[in-house]
Amino acid sequence: MISHSSNHLSINATNNQTNISRKPIIAIDGPAGAGKSTVTKQVANILGLLFLDTGAMYRSITLAVLREGIDFGDQAKIQEIAAQSKIQLFASAIADQPMQVLLNGEDITTAIRTPEVTANVSAIAAQAAVREILVKQQQAIGRSGGVVMEGRDIGTHVFPDAEVKIFLTASAQERAKRRQADMIAQGQIAPDLVTLEQEIVERDRQDSTRDHAPLTQAEDATLVNTDGLTIEEVVAVIVKMYETICETKFDDKVNYKVD
Ligand code: DC
Repeated sequence: MISHSSNHLSINATNNQTNISRKPIIAIDGPAGAGKSTVTKQVANILGLLFLDTGAMYRSITLAVLREGIDFGDQAKIQEIAAQSKIQLFASAIADQPMQVLLNGEDITTAIRTPEVTANVSAIAAQAAVREILVKQQQAIGRSGGVVMEGRDIGTHVFPDAEVKIFLTASAQERAKRRQADMIAQGQIAPDLVTLEQEIVERDRQDSTRDHAPLTQAEDATLVNTDGLTIEEVVAVIVKMYETICETKFDDKVNYKVD
């Protein structure tokens, strides 16, 4: 079952895709700490679109696997966990807060942001079976369009036909600074900047070199380096792109097939 309203997404492992009409999709990809979440949320609010943080879904499965104490090499068991996990995502009512996440009914919003989950999520996200399950759910959520989806592979694999594709990046140093500020704002104990930068570079390496849907800029994505840009400037660029595409290319609806 999949249901969504402007601020609520409810998903499980099954979906049936057919040839359907949909509204435009904005895909925002890029490495950790480039500002994707903040930008995605603001763009969605301005344009009245749904938004989806797909990283939260990979984090949810990682948490479930860690809790069960499953060996990361046991791909069959991890696949089973991913297939059985019911992930629900809600837009937070509070600006700049991450999406509220429920796993099988339990609120895991904070639990998926711990250093332990962050350190292990790339290994789980590298598993083909996990990606297959979550990508199907993401495609089901976005099949009607009108959504801003952020992740690593949205423009390359989840919605390769997204009308607006952004590859958001920033220097590792800048991203470490932002990550530290975010952690402090969320009441977490933040490591020093050198440690955070090393972690970010390592996560980039793992996400970019994996076999399945690695982090890479889609050929037709617009590269936006956010070093020295304000959030408002980045948001304005994306909103403008969306509006231009809606005016020029979109005749209200297009046919889109997901399989
Ligand atoms: O955006 P984030 O840091 O919460 O993402 C957590 C991890 O999930 C990240 O290291 C890579 C992975 N991920 C992915 O492989 N594909 C996505 N579409 C989103 C996230």
